[in-house]
Amino acid sequence: MGVFEVYGHGGDLRTAAERFGVERKQWLDFSANINPLGPPAKLLSRLQNELTQIIHYPDPGQRDLRQALAIKLGIDPEWLLIGNGAAECMALAVQAIAPKTVGVFYPCFSEYVTLAEQFGARVTGCCGSEPEYKPGPDERNALIANVDLLFIGHPNNPTGLIYSEHELIEMAERTEQCGTYLAVDEAFLDFVAPEKMTTLLPRLNRYPHVIILRSLTKMFAIPGLRLGYAIAQPDVIERMKQKQVTWSVNQLALAAGEECLSQDDYVEKTRELIDRERAFLRDCIEQRLGWQVCPGEANFLLVRLPDTHTAAELQQSLGKKGILIRSCAMYPGLTEQHFRIAVRAREENERLLQALEQEQAKGGRAT
Ligand SMILES: Cc1ncc(COP(=O)(O)O)c(C=O)c1O
Repeated sequence: MGVFEVYGHGGDLRTAAERFGVERKQWLDFSANINPLGPPAKLLSRLQNELTQIIHYPDPGQRDLRQALAIKLGIDPEWLLIGNGAAECMALAVQAIAPKTVGVFYPCFSEYVTLAEQFGARVTGCCGSEPEYKPGPDERNALIANVDLLFIGHPNNPTGLIYSEHELIEMAERTEQCGTYLAVDEAFLDFVAPEKMTTLLPRLNRYPHVIILRSLTKMFAIPGLRLGYAIAQPDVIERMKQKQVTWSVNQLALAAGEECLSQDDYVEKTRELIDRERAFLRDCIEQRLGWQVCPGEANFLLVRLPDTHTAAELQQSLGKKGILIRSCAMYPGLTEQHFRIAVRAREENERLLQALEQEQAKGGRAT
């Protein structure tokens, strides 16, 4: 970890507050990729009403939410497991499959590697020559043949890149040929514009080795509440369920999940905002600052500074102004110049851009 490095994950405001002396509530946080609109109002009022229910244990079978979610997705409830965030679903997938080897394409979400190692698997990482770009068919086929479980981010964190339907199908076919499991992490898929969105979900009955992981914490701005789910063939879901701690998903999260399912307008409004602001941020960073931006489709952008700057220094300078960004220097496959920013609302994005321009105007070195 570099001398200016603040934290291992985005959104660690407590550590950032300690380092920079900025109160937790005062941060303008571009390090965590959460819906800038915050949770929907109806969700908050539902949670308030639900507080009286915390005197009871939650339903360990998660029946109401599973049923409602199954209807929404057009699948049977046996294909679903509700988890304490997508992160728990990932851990359950690793435990259910018990892989000896786990494959990843760097750069990727660090939890794939952490979880694999935590549960005793050896990690094989594959990294292209152009770090911001996704692996080609040869790299994908070779890695799938050599591991028991492959994690892919779709969109990938921190690049924001997505796979085409053709690429997803090719990978799924290959995993079936090889008997390898494929975990497709769709935690950020909700933010992708509908015309670009691709998923293996409608074809899942052909692929017994594919597990889709989804999160409700990003779109509905509830990372502190924790809620996610896995979709896979019933025998895989059953094996995952056997590894789950009883009552792992609390009553408030289950109720919140039901409320989220009726928030189509909020999801659409969010997508429009993200689409517009992603393009705005990307254009300004590329054109006004001349820095390189990875063409991601999610609610965050990976940026590469010129060699005269480092992301750690930039993080330090912005931190003093109460703006938190995510240095990506520690991601295998990326460089000291890479950092990631969340896509937020226009006024906040303007504030970030102004601060970035000030840093650039200092002529290379941040203070
Ligand atoms: C790519 C990716 N997948 C999954 C998660 C975890 O999501 P959840 O909050 O639902 O556990 C994160 C969290 O940052 C993430 O970046």
